[in-house]
Amino acid sequence: MRTQKLGTTGPVTSALGLGCMGMSALYGEADRGESVATVHAALDAGITLLDTGDFYAMGHNELLVGEALRTAPAALRERALLSVKFGALRDPDGGWSGYDGRPAAVKNFAAYSLQRLGVDHIDVYRIARLDPDVPVEETVGAIAELVEKGYVRHVGLSEVGADTLRRAAAVAPVSDLQIEYSLISRGIEDEILPTAAALGIGVTAYGVLSRGLISGHFTRDRQLAADDFRGLSPRFQGENLRRNLDLVDALRAVAEAKGVSVAQTAIAWVLAQGPRFGADIVPLVGARRRDRLAEALGALDVALDGTDLAAIEEAVPAGAAAGARYPESQLAHLDSER
Ligand SMILES: NC(=O)c1ccc[n+]([C@@H]2O[C@H](COP(=O)([O-])OP(=O)(O)OC[C@H]3O[C@@H](n4cnc5c(N)ncnc54)[C@H](OP(=O)(O)O)[C@@H]3O)[C@@H](O)[C@H]2O)c1
Repeated sequence: MRTQKLGTTGPVTSALGLGCMGMSALYGEADRGESVATVHAALDAGITLLDTGDFYAMGHNELLVGEALRTAPAALRERALLSVKFGALRDPDGGWSGYDGRPAAVKNFAAYSLQRLGVDHIDVYRIARLDPDVPVEETVGAIAELVEKGYVRHVGLSEVGADTLRRAAAVAPVSDLQIEYSLISRGIEDEILPTAAALGIGVTAYGVLSRGLISGHFTRDRQLAADDFRGLSPRFQGENLRRNLDLVDALRAVAEAKGVSVAQTAIAWVLAQGPRFGADIVPLVGARRRDRLAEALGALDVALDGTDLAAIEEAVPAGAAAGARYPESQLAHLDSER
């Protein structure tokens, strides 16, 4: 497995990370046994970085990751690096009611996460969205205290803009910013990515397959469960979906000419942007089945040269996506979109 240093001060991780969210939440039903087997297969293949969040089905995802670690061979378990998000407030109906980044809350969230995961430290800890009522310095300062005490190894950030990156980095070393980045979500290229690179902050890119939309497996007539995030996402609606899947068809032609899959092409494109921007970029793939994981891992063997990148650009030009990447109500929580 290729490795990647995550920012100047961050850990060395596998070149691809595994995002575990979809194993518990937001993309409809997932099979628990298959999810655990997928985490094991990822570790076995050399993936070290596992991403979760305490609010993914209210602790369900952390318990699942904890079970996968507990039941993995010790050598694999010891290699795992855990990236954990906190801060989103939930209710028993599954509703979302804001974010809490107060220092006391940060420590409270961490105490519960350590228990659920069954570990003595978290490798990268980050608030999922900035709490608008708490200066980022206070939230990051609380994580830095957890670092001092050994409960956390590195401070991370999620979906924040360039100013917040600078403010946070002035308080404590930041390993990486977790943010959406894909062929059809390139908003970070203008300011956020260059700022992260200049500050020595790495990027863990999520949604590299745009939540399955540009995976090559999403179909126009796919029925989504009532609680599937994609049922609310503008990019998956009506005419937007049709236009976005036309982009995927164009990408498929490029992928087929190279003898690789659409998903592999989309992941390889993100991998290729690190050197272009002088940034440490680690794509998080949201595989929740072993066959999807195997496909994603294949992206590491896809070398894209200038001709390939030009063909991809022609198929999916920057800004070509139809629809915003989040519904309006959720865009409001994104410091990165201000
Ligand atoms: N910081 C944040 O705000 C934030 C937000 C969202 C996610 N994340 C993190 O980032 C991780 C990745 O995000 P994501 O799950 O949206 O990413 P993604 O990789 O863009 O999408 C994953 C979806 O793509 C589909 N897919 C099809 N082929 C695939 C393949 N070969 N490999 C992987 N997936 C394939 C899967 O659907 P099927 O299972 O139906 O095949 C899966 O549900 C999450 O798990 C989470 O840990 C962070």
